[in-house]
Amino acid sequence: MTTQEVLDQYGRCVIGNYGRLPVVITRASGSQMWDLDGKRYLDLFPGWGCSLLGHCHPRVVEAIREQAGRIIHVDNTFYTVEQGRLAEIISERSFGGKCFFCNSGAEANEAAIKLARKHAGPGRYKIITMERSFHGRTFGAMSATAQSKTQQGFDPLVPGFVYVPFNNIDAVAKAITNETAAIMLEPIQGEGGVNVPDDNYLASLRELCDEHNLLLIFDEVQTGCGRTGTWFGYQNWGVEPDIMTLAKALGGGAPIGAMVAKPDVAKTLTVGSHASTFGANPLVVAAAIAMFETIEQENLLERVKQISDYIMAKARTLAQQFGFVEQVRGKGLMIGIELSLPGAPIVAAALERGLRVNCTQSTILRLLPAMTITEAEVDEAFDILAVAMQETESKLVSS
Ligand SMILES: Cc1ncc(COP(=O)(O)O)c(C=O)c1O
Repeated sequence: MTTQEVLDQYGRCVIGNYGRLPVVITRASGSQMWDLDGKRYLDLFPGWGCSLLGHCHPRVVEAIREQAGRIIHVDNTFYTVEQGRLAEIISERSFGGKCFFCNSGAEANEAAIKLARKHAGPGRYKIITMERSFHGRTFGAMSATAQSKTQQGFDPLVPGFVYVPFNNIDAVAKAITNETAAIMLEPIQGEGGVNVPDDNYLASLRELCDEHNLLLIFDEVQTGCGRTGTWFGYQNWGVEPDIMTLAKALGGGAPIGAMVAKPDVAKTLTVGSHASTFGANPLVVAAAIAMFETIEQENLLERVKQISDYIMAKARTLAQQFGFVEQVRGKGLMIGIELSLPGAPIVAAALERGLRVNCTQSTILRLLPAMTITEAEVDEAFDILAVAMQETESKLVSS
């Protein structure tokens, strides 16, 4: 099939709810992928953050192959060795919480929202979330997401979400009432623009939660599983949540989500109160275990720190070179380059030259590179990005 034939087939048969780039990907490895015509792309945004180990890490591939040969799906009527092992791995590396497994970030957040409401008891159902947040597309997660573009056309939303500006502790304090059950946020906002909070913000939220008997929920779907150089984003600030949600990188590219709750909170989810048929299916769990083992065996948390410094330095060079680069920010392998002009033409020009980056909030280039990316790949990627920026600037000047 040709690229055009695939695009036409999608036009006829696939719902058009994604803004897709006109490229058909056929295979990938590490930080590189190839399209139907054999063209190679460097990928600085692998799998929207799901492929933190890079595409098709050999250890993950092998774990999936081995597991598929034994058993693919076991429903949650039974126990499996694999699910228990993964829960222990997460629990030991976080805050000793207990896990509920599902298939995506939105589902993990749904579970957190339900647990927070049930735990708080009658009359306390409100959850404070942050402007520019992103928690997913299902009804609860979408209602928690304080961005009107995500909610447009779907009224009425799930009631009980109260939105405040991110990184503003006074706004949170003012929003708390005797109906409040929890505060929910991403430790670093991803889709909202790679917004890193002030150093004392999360600790102040923890204090407010303790004072008012509220649950603190961290959505670590994007920041979790090593992305920021610690196992979980909150560990950068030493502030423990009561509930944390995971997905994206958790499965090394396989679809799995998790909600992790302190044992005292977790016990509210009694038999029959919540479920997911596919949750922690052995196939995806094998991939997730391989993901954690690979990070440990290949010392990749350390690598995040080194390669992050290298990428940040490259990004700052762009800021010196181009007046329209306003700010470079981020933590670990979550990097934002804020522009004073729309980022879409730069994304398109980079893609044309074989580089994939993302743009969020119209003007913020977002990079979520793999832990395994090499310095040589970073060099090549930033050479392409500089050319794409130069070209975009020249077009603006001449128009
Ligand atoms: C912080 C955060 N939470 C939740 C989600 C939703 O995850 P999913 O698309 O797996 O439902 C995302 C997806 O981008 C996210 O970045």
